[in-house]
Amino acid sequence: MNNWFVRTFGSSVGKKLMMALTGLGFCGFLTVHLIGNLFLYGGKDAFNSYAEHLHSLGPLVNVAEFGLLTLAVIHISTGLILFLQNYQSRPVRYAVNKSGGGRTIGSMTMSYTGILMLLFILFHLVGFHFADKSTRTIFDIVQQAFSSPAYVTLYVLAMVVVAVHVSHGFWSAFQTIGANHPKYMPSIMLLSVIFSIAVGVGFGFIPMYILMIS
Ligand code: HEM
Repeated sequence: MNNWFVRTFGSSVGKKLMMALTGLGFCGFLTVHLIGNLFLYGGKDAFNSYAEHLHSLGPLVNVAEFGLLTLAVIHISTGLILFLQNYQSRPVRYAVNKSGGGRTIGSMTMSYTGILMLLFILFHLVGFHFADKSTRTIFDIVQQAFSSPAYVTLYVLAMVVVAVHVSHGFWSAFQTIGANHPKYMPSIMLLSVIFSIAVGVGFGFIPMYILMIS
C-alpha cells in the first residue's frame, strides 16, 4: 500500500494527477464562493444572512475548511516540486514544456500566477476571513475594504491573475485525468474559456460594484 502510494504519487504522472484533482477541487470551491458572493449584490441584509446561514452549518464548515487547507497544501507543495523538477531538467531556461495545446500565456505563467494567487489568498484571508467580526458584520468589512480605489484595483488585478491561472489549469486538469479525446477537446477548451471568464468577470466586478455604491 505504502509502496503503491509512493510509486504512484512519486512519479511525474502521479504528481500531475494530484495537481489536476486538487485544482478541480479548487474550481468547485471557486464556483460555490462566487455564487455566495453574488449575494453582495442583494445588499447588507442579503449577504449577512447568507453568511449566517453558512456559519450555522457549524462542523460542516470546519470540515470544508480543513478540506480546502488539505487541497492547498497538496496543490502548492506538488506544484513547487514539479516547477523545480522542470526547471532543473531544462537545458535552456526558455525551453518550456510543450503540453498538447501549444503555449499560451496561461501555460507559460502557471508558477508565477500560482505564487501571486497564494499571496492574494493570504491577504484575502487576513482581510476578510480572520477580520474581527465582533463590532462589524461581514458585509461592513467587505464594503469598508472596497470603498478604497487602491484596494479595488488590487483585487481586480488579482482576479485577472486568477482567471489566467484557471484558463490553463482547468483545461490541463481535464487533459491529465484522461479526458483528452479529440472529440471532447473542443468542448473542454470552450468550457475552460467560459469558466475563466466567469471567474475573472464574476469576482472582478464585485469590488467595482461595491466601490460604485459606497
Ligand atoms: C471579489 C472577490 C471576492 C470576495 C468579495 C470574497 C469574499 C470573501 C469573504 C467575505 C470571505 C469570508 C467569509 C467569512 O469568514 O464569513 C471569504 C473567504 C475566503 N475566500 Fe473569498 N472572496 C473573493 C474572491 C476570492 C478568490 C478569487 C479566492 C480564491 C482564489 C477566494 C478564496 C477564499 C477563501 C479560501 C476563503 C476562506 C473560506 C472559508 O471561510 O472557509 N476568495 N471571501
